[in-house]
Amino acid sequence: MHRGISTLVRRPSLAGFRSLRLAALLAALAALMAPYARAATAASKTQRLAAVPPMGWNDWAHYQCGFTGETILNNARMLVKTGLAARGYNTVTIDDCWMLKTRDAQGNLQADPGRFPQGMKPLADAIHRLGLKFGIYEDAGSETCGEFAGSGQPQGGGKDHFLQDARLFASWGVDYLKLDGCNVYARTPEGKVEAYRKAYAAQSEALKSAGKPIVFSESAPAYFQDTPAWYDVLAWVRQYGQLWREGTDMANYHAKSAGKPRFKSVLWNYAYNLPLGRFQSPGNWNDPDFIIGGDSGLSLAESRSQMALWSMMSAPLILSSDIERLNPEAIEILGNRAVIAVDQDPLGRMATLVRRTATVDLLLKPLKGAEYAVAVLNHGESPAHVRLEPAELGFAGGARCTVDAQDLWSGAHATSLAALQADVASHDTAIWRIRPSAACGKPARTGTIVMTAGRSLESLPGYTRCLASSAELEECAGGPQERWTVTAGGGLRSAAGCLAAVGGKPVLQKCNGGAAQKWCYTLSGNLVNAGDKECLTNGTAVETGQPLSMQSCGHNQANQIWSLPN
Ligand code: GAL
Repeated sequence: MHRGISTLVRRPSLAGFRSLRLAALLAALAALMAPYARAATAASKTQRLAAVPPMGWNDWAHYQCGFTGETILNNARMLVKTGLAARGYNTVTIDDCWMLKTRDAQGNLQADPGRFPQGMKPLADAIHRLGLKFGIYEDAGSETCGEFAGSGQPQGGGKDHFLQDARLFASWGVDYLKLDGCNVYARTPEGKVEAYRKAYAAQSEALKSAGKPIVFSESAPAYFQDTPAWYDVLAWVRQYGQLWREGTDMANYHAKSAGKPRFKSVLWNYAYNLPLGRFQSPGNWNDPDFIIGGDSGLSLAESRSQMALWSMMSAPLILSSDIERLNPEAIEILGNRAVIAVDQDPLGRMATLVRRTATVDLLLKPLKGAEYAVAVLNHGESPAHVRLEPAELGFAGGARCTVDAQDLWSGAHATSLAALQADVASHDTAIWRIRPSAACGKPARTGTIVMTAGRSLESLPGYTRCLASSAELEECAGGPQERWTVTAGGGLRSAAGCLAAVGGKPVLQKCNGGAAQKWCYTLSGNLVNAGDKECLTNGTAVETGQPLSMQSCGHNQANQIWSLPN
């Protein structure tokens, strides 16, 4: 989050921000207020819904429309039998294709009798009898993505069914609703964001009046990925629901190409989710989509990676595989209590990207009780040896700072380590829970400052560019020049000095705490300089080799959006 860097500029003078465009100003103010708003909404929501990231199972990535009520119930039974339910995977959700294309004479949705001969209520009851919760899918548009009856307005406008459907779901005992966003009617292309907002707000209100708590998963942001409006949508979904899908689906399983590798899809969803930490907090979660670990298309190492990465990001853990066909090793990975505890940690923090090389990512996540999770992803093709000193994670204390560490895959404990070390196999991820010694103190907010480049993912570094202390953007390579500390005073400090805006240009200076060295980090991801009130901007696009400059803040301009250590 942007607590530290915002605190210094808690009482900005409005006049000082005159040069910002209105939208950027509102975003900056929203970001300044966010810690307070977050605290308030989190406090009211933690008592009720999704205080920690939701966990469960959904049919989609494995079965798509190829399921019946029996498929769902079998998987629910298997969650219980394998012990995964007891580990927290407690919500069984039926995705698209459960309903008919038309409504009945009263306008009610109709469960497909071919799939659910007894209707939906008996299935919901059976799932509840297993001690599980029951989730269902609908769509904010006129039709679902599979072209079944949607809850939203018809094309051309007219009456929606949000309230009627919410009441029906509540009568079935639904505990969780995933509302997709295909076929949402907007009168004009310019009206698209507002049309989504109205639809999701309406469903949110409908759920509140349905008489029982229902966790609300919103797919709205996914329909704006890679457009400037993405950040606008990400900024409002938290008002309406508890989690939201921001982007591309995880690759599906297809029986005909069962062995097809799916790890790239895991890396892509991880890549786009990781820079979005500022949008999430307890009760409101970014959702990078299903856990497909253990299913075909992922090796055990790749499955470990997905579990570790999702847990480092406090992402929902929603399995989407045939639970009956998971082998014991996969069940052990998915059910690893210590890794799940990292995911479900009450602080709900997004990991910081401490360092990124061409093949290795190093992540740090603060946990409750002055403990931390550390993960090392090796997405390269050969094994990687890593040696990590606490200083690299932002701890001071020099040689007196040591850590007690538990390797969460082997369970092995070690005490008073001067460094964490591991050989990480290709596509695997090492993950530890550490307790630093008293001499370490609290870690500084240290790591990379990145800009995200866009959709095509050749490699993780391909999605991200790193800010270097030469005040330019470079391909992330993991060198010390890509290491920044966000100071409590709102400074961005590197080994070469503090980033300052001088004469319309960002430069590195000896740190002096002056206004030119103070930065306000907005919810939309802008770094606004407290001195000249302008935005840190890279060239004309997210490309290396283009000079950085200070420019007036545009509306969600890709070359002005940064992700900071959390
Ligand atoms: C997609 C969604 C998937 C699944 C599918 C159903 O839009 O991202 O998770 O719900 O629709 O048609």
